[in-house]
Amino acid sequence: MADAGVAAAAGATGLGDRGREPDERPAVGPGDEPARRSRSGPDPGSVADERPPRLLVVHHTPSPALDAVLRSVVDGASAPELAAVEVVVRPALSASVSDVLAADAYVLGTPANLGYLSGALKHFFDTIYYPCLQATQRRPYALYVHGNDDVEGAVRGTERIVTGLGWRAVRDPLRLTGAPSPADLESAWDLGATVAATLLP
Ligand SMILES: Cc1cc2nc3c(=O)[nH]c(=O)nc-3n(C[C@H](O)[C@H](O)[C@H](O)COP(=O)(O)O)c2cc1C
Repeated sequence: MADAGVAAAAGATGLGDRGREPDERPAVGPGDEPARRSRSGPDPGSVADERPPRLLVVHHTPSPALDAVLRSVVDGASAPELAAVEVVVRPALSASVSDVLAADAYVLGTPANLGYLSGALKHFFDTIYYPCLQATQRRPYALYVHGNDDVEGAVRGTERIVTGLGWRAVRDPLRLTGAPSPADLESAWDLGATVAATLLP
């Protein structure tokens, strides 16, 4: 789904744009509101099940390299063809049970730390695991992991937890090491777009 503009678009949101945190960018609402829908109040003709499908991106982003990857993931999930899907982005240390229950699919992003997923993403799972276990079975997800040289422990650790949750992988984990190349950022864009596309009607 990525096109030639992907790398350029991803680069344009990179280090030169450090004045805004990822969760403050227009594509990702800073508060509880999703990126592309403003809810001006209840529609008398609507019911709760008619809300747009929602993708939740839960990430731990402690460095510029991971920030570039996150931005590409969100750009991909926010592609024009996917406008019917809401995209909500939460740092792993602030993502809540409500965020998970209110979403229909997930992107998980973490650095490799000491051969495992980051403590931040682990804390997220510790928080949401049992409250979300029954309600979120079979929901689609995808994972990206960034590290210096060996992300396998982090991938395995995350997959084991998510398997316990009963979530359904929609693509292989994206394994990234070192400074993200344009091809890495395109893969990240594709990951975001792929998970969002599972929510299209
Ligand atoms: C405490 C600590 C443990 C780490 N453990 C691993 C590891 O097990 N495997 C790995 O590939 N990278 C490891 N890293 C590197 C991080 O994954 C890396 O710093 C992070 O993905 C951000 O990338 P950057 O430093 O290139 O910006 C570790 C970093 C820290 C600070």
